[in-house]
Amino acid sequence: MISEILQKAREFETQYGPHIPDSERPTFHATPTIGWMNDPNGFSFYQGECHLFYQYHPYSNEWGPMHWGHLKTRDFLRWERLPIALAPDQDYDSAGCFSGGAVELPDGRQLLMYTGVRRGHNADGYLQDIQTQCLAIGDGLNYEKLRDNPVLDGKNLPQGGSTIDFRDPKVWRDPDGAFYAVVGNRTADGSGAILLYRWIENSKWEFVHTLDASHNQYGKMWECPDFFPLDGKQVLITSPQEMSPIGLEFHAGNGTVCLIGEYSPDGGFARQNVQAIDYGLDFYAPQTVETPDGRRIMVAWMQNWDTVNAKPYNCRWFGQMTLPRELSVKDGRLIQNPVRELEAYRRQRVVHRNIPVSGEINLPGVQGRVLDMTVTIRPTGPDLYRWFRIRVAKDGQHETIIRYRPDQGTLKLDRIRSGLPHDIVHTRSFLVWPRDGELKLRIILDRFSVEVFVNDGEQAASAVIYTRQSADAITFEAGGSALINVEKYDLAFF
Ligand code: FRU
Repeated sequence: MISEILQKAREFETQYGPHIPDSERPTFHATPTIGWMNDPNGFSFYQGECHLFYQYHPYSNEWGPMHWGHLKTRDFLRWERLPIALAPDQDYDSAGCFSGGAVELPDGRQLLMYTGVRRGHNADGYLQDIQTQCLAIGDGLNYEKLRDNPVLDGKNLPQGGSTIDFRDPKVWRDPDGAFYAVVGNRTADGSGAILLYRWIENSKWEFVHTLDASHNQYGKMWECPDFFPLDGKQVLITSPQEMSPIGLEFHAGNGTVCLIGEYSPDGGFARQNVQAIDYGLDFYAPQTVETPDGRRIMVAWMQNWDTVNAKPYNCRWFGQMTLPRELSVKDGRLIQNPVRELEAYRRQRVVHRNIPVSGEINLPGVQGRVLDMTVTIRPTGPDLYRWFRIRVAKDGQHETIIRYRPDQGTLKLDRIRSGLPHDIVHTRSFLVWPRDGELKLRIILDRFSVEVFVNDGEQAASAVIYTRQSADAITFEAGGSALINVEKYDLAFF
């Protein structure tokens, strides 16, 4: 049964979505059909195709009562639009269908697990959100919410757990046949924790244990968890709110944290290493999927809550997903690289080797706004370079700068002159580790974004830009002398 609220939202996106021409969108990054998009949801395989749902408010370019938008893909780069999957049409989700996950059931149907939010009064009479976990089952297109929703509420929380910050279930099925979900929660100390639940079909969900908690060290509420084994380790990711800065690793506000450790059902999760996931400006709420060929792929909202007001005047869509990334763990750290499917769309290879740079140069054939470019920088000559700048999306007025300072060991992403008409945070610096004095940067541009992958994925940094598309020059500049290699491909999807 399709509710009136869902029907109306579907008709709205069918009528107005096509008004947005492809030329106003990125070419291979996922965007909403129309209106507002935030977190990726339900990133999962269903009947051989990868589905990606998203937090969606089709009626404006602002956050509003959350629906689940729906896309699917075969290669993580070309996205097919499907009708809206969920709308806030029940008492328990009347204030929104918040983030969650999806999984294929043994009988071939698709299960969506999401947070239902409703407004209610607390003991002091204040109006506040009440968050519970709910299920919907469908065929990959239409979904029926379960009659016994919600399946997890305040009764299923450990002592001190908050019913107003209890959200974002990520669900999966283990080889033993049981289903598991990790859910974010706020504990009695006011900061976040990740709870693990277990479910056998036709029985009730049960709380297993708390996997890890912030204890006010890594931000407050922990949103959007994911939990998966990778390369002999166990990885827990979450997006904390209200973080305090820690060196150049974590910035203030909404951040992302990757906890790498070991897990056993009896001993729980033991964290061994903590790091940021993306070191740029726009990255939040990542979610992962395991592909049939065994790769762990991550996608995130390429935006940050602290910068969402900086949108272009009257834009008809707002919010996009990152380029999906292949993950691995090496020496206890998370490695992220663009999905290998991207290589099939490379065209027009341009290569320049051993180019000396002192002052600012451009190179024949190296320009564009939809491209995949790898630059390696190494010192040369007696006048060792003190800084190196790569400028992209450049014309007389605009530029987005990637700057390396070998003496400080920092890379800086600077989008001050990248077409954002608001005075928000526009630069971010982070530590990088050159190998034998050489730094390798893979830079992906797709009209409205820059994503940088450092040293074969040791770090990644993302930022959205709104620079006009005619600004497509690229230059290289060294303070001192450097030697570079550049390999650049256009990316073509038509
Ligand atoms: C994270 C988040 C989630 C919530 C959703 C609401 O960006 O705050 O915790 O489910 O967005 O749209």
